[in-house]
Amino acid sequence: MIHRMRRLRRLDSTRRLVRETRLSWSNLVYPIFVDARVSTKEAIPSMPGIYRYALTELEKEVEEISSLRIPAILLFGLPEKKDLMATEAYASDGIVQRATRLIKKTVPQLTVISDVCLCQYTDHGHCGVVREGTIDNDETLKLLSKIAVSHARAGADIVGPSAMMDGQVKAIRNGLDAAGLSDTAIMGYSAKFASSFYGPFREAADSTPLWGDRRTYQMDSPNKNEALREIALDIEEGADIVMVKPALSYLDILSQARHKFDTPIAAYNVSGEYAMIKAAAEKGWLNEQAVVMEVLTSIKRAGADVIISYFAKTVARQLQEATE
Ligand code: PBG
Repeated sequence: MIHRMRRLRRLDSTRRLVRETRLSWSNLVYPIFVDARVSTKEAIPSMPGIYRYALTELEKEVEEISSLRIPAILLFGLPEKKDLMATEAYASDGIVQRATRLIKKTVPQLTVISDVCLCQYTDHGHCGVVREGTIDNDETLKLLSKIAVSHARAGADIVGPSAMMDGQVKAIRNGLDAAGLSDTAIMGYSAKFASSFYGPFREAADSTPLWGDRRTYQMDSPNKNEALREIALDIEEGADIVMVKPALSYLDILSQARHKFDTPIAAYNVSGEYAMIKAAAEKGWLNEQAVVMEVLTSIKRAGADVIISYFAKTVARQLQEATE
């Protein structure tokens, strides 16, 4: 007897009936770069279609995102000036703080997630405080907590620590609670790998480290058990959402984490993953719309509840135009 698997593939209607994974605009988070140094919006060459926005351009942008029913944005700031201690990162009139206040006033129903890190704000470009050529974990925790509190005071709904310092979620939870901000959630960049797929982002965010690399704090890419331990620790420390980053080369980790943990899981479809598809599509080598849908659906199928992607706007539009 032949097992006729093709029976349920014959009609589009039947295929829809038995489809196991459905991507929705409600799964998506759109990253936004706000730049204190520009007066309009500036294109990012290695990320076609993505811009660095001046505050004055932000309202239009977030209104569009909100009209596409995307539930959340992830906010990255580029400050006017950088220094050794990343002071603009926790200034109450810093670029992310000002942007957050503006966004929450313009579209209060849009969830604002703020990236909490030092690398855009330090003159050396590392994610932590540098002492004698190394990154001082515990000194950095104090700053991360300060940054998170100042973002939350400006109105951020969720703070996302991405520095990969040990104990960062706990330090931030304690800081938020002590400041009376117990309703602010934490999305931990829990399993964040030292990946070469961040290249275009570093160009966009002007955050390439001046010396060395991030391998002493971000994870070594071959490690899976360690990733699961990082996630378990973040949950223990109080993370409301955990993350695997990047997404595509780490779908195995996403899938294992899904089986192991019941905390919401985010996956970050990072800048290099965006650039690859854009470049191939520009050459006419790939059908961008079809490939993007396949990629983001695979991230959901692997177990992500939340998908952070530079494709969020185009995919939301595509899904809303679809007849299914
Ligand atoms: C900052 C940060 C990075 C990304 C998100 N937050 C860069 C890095 O760690 O060097 C990368 C995102 C992307 O590539 O899209 N810590």
